[in-house]
Amino acid sequence: MKKIVIFLLAACITTACREVSSQRTEMDGFLDSLMGRMTLEEKIGQLNLLTMGFDVTGPRISKGVEQKIRDGHVGGVFNLWTPNAVRKLQDTVLTQTRLKIPLLIGYDVIHGHRTIFPIPLAQAATWDIGLIERIATVVADEASADGLHWTFSPMVDLVRDPRWGRVSDTAGEDSFLGSEIAKAMVRGYEQGDLSNESTIMSCVKHFALYGAAEGGRDYNTVDMSRLRMYNDYLPPYKAAIEAGASSIMTSFNEVDGIPATGNRWLLTDLLREQWKFEGFVVADYTSVSEMENHGMGDKAAVTERAINAGLDMDMVSEYFTDELPALVKSGKVKEETVNAACRRILEAKYKLGLFDNPYRGITGDAGTRVSSAEKFELNREAALKSIVLLKNDGRTLPLDDSKRIAFVGPLVKNRRTLLGSSAAAADWRETETLWEALCSRRSGGRFTYAQGCHLVEDSLIRRMTDQQNGNVLDDRCGATLIREAVEVAERSDVVVAVLGEAYDMSGEAAGRSDIGLLSNQKALLRALEATGKPIVLVLMNGRPLTLQWEDDHIEAIVETWLPGACGGSAIVDILFGEVNPSGKITMTFPRNVGQIPIYYNYKNTGRPYSDNSKFTVKHIDVENSPLYPFGHGLSYTQFAYSPVRLSDTVMTVDRPVEATVTVSNVGLRSGEETVQFYIRDLVGSVTRPVKELKGFRRIKLEAGESEDVTFTVTPDMLKFYNSDLEWVFERGDFLLFAGGSSATDNVARFTLE
Ligand code: NOJ
Repeated sequence: MKKIVIFLLAACITTACREVSSQRTEMDGFLDSLMGRMTLEEKIGQLNLLTMGFDVTGPRISKGVEQKIRDGHVGGVFNLWTPNAVRKLQDTVLTQTRLKIPLLIGYDVIHGHRTIFPIPLAQAATWDIGLIERIATVVADEASADGLHWTFSPMVDLVRDPRWGRVSDTAGEDSFLGSEIAKAMVRGYEQGDLSNESTIMSCVKHFALYGAAEGGRDYNTVDMSRLRMYNDYLPPYKAAIEAGASSIMTSFNEVDGIPATGNRWLLTDLLREQWKFEGFVVADYTSVSEMENHGMGDKAAVTERAINAGLDMDMVSEYFTDELPALVKSGKVKEETVNAACRRILEAKYKLGLFDNPYRGITGDAGTRVSSAEKFELNREAALKSIVLLKNDGRTLPLDDSKRIAFVGPLVKNRRTLLGSSAAAADWRETETLWEALCSRRSGGRFTYAQGCHLVEDSLIRRMTDQQNGNVLDDRCGATLIREAVEVAERSDVVVAVLGEAYDMSGEAAGRSDIGLLSNQKALLRALEATGKPIVLVLMNGRPLTLQWEDDHIEAIVETWLPGACGGSAIVDILFGEVNPSGKITMTFPRNVGQIPIYYNYKNTGRPYSDNSKFTVKHIDVENSPLYPFGHGLSYTQFAYSPVRLSDTVMTVDRPVEATVTVSNVGLRSGEETVQFYIRDLVGSVTRPVKELKGFRRIKLEAGESEDVTFTVTPDMLKFYNSDLEWVFERGDFLLFAGGSSATDNVARFTLE
C-alpha cells in the first residue's frame, strides 16, 4: 500500500514537473518571438512605471501618460483602478500601439482595497497567520475584480523605532513573526498561480532595511552591520521570496553607503545570486532620480548605476526612458541587461495571463467572488482579534451597561481615522463610527457624549489633517470643550475616553519626535481623571505610544489601532465583554522617547542592566524596562502557565527536544491566549540576543480548562549567521522560555550535543 502511494505521488510530481516545464517552454517561445520584434526603445518602455496622477508619494507626478502609452514608452501604471478605467487604458494599448503589450496595473493595496481591514501592525497583533492569509486572499479578489494586477505589499520591513510613521504598515519588531506574516501575505495574494484571475501579484518592500531609518525620520539614512542585517532585518524579505513573491521594491535608503536602488551587492549578489530571486525588481517612487540627491552623480550616471545594479523597473523618475537609449549606444549599459529586465517584466505579464486577457479579472460577472457577508465576518474577526487590552485594573472592563457611561473624545464620532492612512479605494464615508456602533449594538444603554478636545493640537491641525477627510475642525476653544466633557463625566459612573492619532499621523512621511498623546488630548484626560470617575482609555493609533502617565493614572487601557471598517462594532463588543480581548502587541511600547530603540531581543552586553549597580546598561532617569513588552496583551480571564517540561535536556542533531507547557484558564470566562516560545543561545562565536521568538500558538480555553501546548525545538531553529555570515548552529547550552509575553521567565535549559 505504502509503495503504491509513493509511486502515485512520484507519478504526480513527475507529471506536475512536466507540465511546469512545458508551460515554461511555451512562455519562452512566446516571449522570444515577442522580444524578437521589439525595438530597443520598446523594450526600455516596458521598464517604465508611471502614476496616473493621484496618491502622489514623491516630488513629481507623471505627465502625458496616455500619449506615452501610445508611443510604447510605458510598461505599467499605478494609482488607477475600476473596470472602466483599466479597460479604457488596455483598449488604448490594443488599438493604438504597435505591439499591443498589455499594461501592468499596480496600486498600494496595503490592508484592503474597497473593504479596509485593520492596519498591518494590528493584523500582526492577532498572531493568527491563517487569518492574515485569508485577508490577503480576499484583498486580492477585490483588487483583481477592480482591474488591478499588482499590489505594492507586503511591507516586511523590520522596525524598532516607533517614531517612524510607517511602523503602522509593518508586522512589528520581530524577524520570525514578521517572516511568517510575510509568507502568509504572499500566499494569500498569489496563491501560487497568477493565472488565477482572482489573485494579484505581490511586491515585497522595501528592499532593504527601510525600517531602520535613523531617528525614525522617513527616507533617512541607514547604517547597519552585516551581522544585524543577516540575523534580524533580512529574513522577512527572504521568507517572502521563498514563499513565491513575484516582485520586490527597492527602498529609498542607502545600504552600506550605496542607495538600495543602485546597490549591486543588494540587488544582484544577494537577491539574485544568493537568494535565487527570479521575479522583477521595481524602484520605489522616484528613487532612481533621488540618487542624484544622494550624491551618486548626474542623471545618466544614476541611471547607469541602477540598471547595472539589477533594477528592472523605474517608478516615476522616467530616467530609464530618457537615458538608456544613449547609455546602450555608448556601451555603458549592455543591451542584454535591458533585455533581461524587459523579459522579467514580460514574464510577469505572461504569468498573470495578460497576453490572453488584457482585461484580466474584470471580465465576466461584475463584482468579486467573496460575498460581502463573508468579508464582513472576516474583517470583524480581524478587528476583534487585533485589539489589545494593555491594562485593566480593578476589572474596570468589561463595561456594564446598566451604568451611566460617558463617551468622550474626538475619535468617538470620527469616521476617517478607523481606516488608517492607506485606505486604497474605500469610501471612508461609509464607515460606521464607534458612536453609531454603540447606539445600534447597545440600544438600551445610558450613554452621553462630549467631544472634549480637537483631534490634533491647533498648531498641527492644518498641517496634518484636512476637513474634507473627516477631521472636523470645531471652532470652540479647548477650554470650553474640556469644561463640557468634565460636566458630562461628572454625571456618569464610568468615562470612556477615545483618543489617539489622526489617520495621517502614521503611515508614510509621518515621523513623530514625540509619540505621546498630543498635549490637548492629554489635558482632556487629566481633567477627566481629576473627576475621580473610573476611566477607560480607548486608543486609536498607528504606532506604539508613550503612555507612562496614562498607565500610572488610568484604570483600563485598550489599544484598538486603526481597526478598519468593522472597527467601531469590534470596539463596542470588546468594551462590553461580548468578545474577550486576545491581541498581543508586536512592538514594544517604550516609557518615553529616550528609551528608543527598545526591543525585546536585545544583546546582554558586558554590563547587563542591574538595579543594584550603577555601572550597567541603563538610563538613570527612567525605569529601564519597557512600559509594555513585546507579546503583551491581557484578557478578561487569566491564564496560568505550568513550568516548562522538556522531553530531554539533551538535543542531538537528529533528535529534537519537545518542550511542553500546561496552560490553564483560571478565570471565570472563556478566552484565547497566544502561547509564545523563546530561545536564548547562552554562548556563541558571536554575541546572541537574550531571547528570540521561535514559535507560538493561539489557543482557546473555556473557564477552568487546561491544555498542554507542545513545541518541538529542532537544531535548525538554533541557527544564526556567524561572523563569516554562515548560517550555522553551535553546540552548547540554550534556554527555552514559554509564556504569554516576551517578559516571561518560565524557563528550562537544554544542551545541543
Ligand atoms: C512610496 C512608498 O514608499 C511605497 O511604499 C509605495 O508603494 C510607493 N510610494 C507607491 O505609491
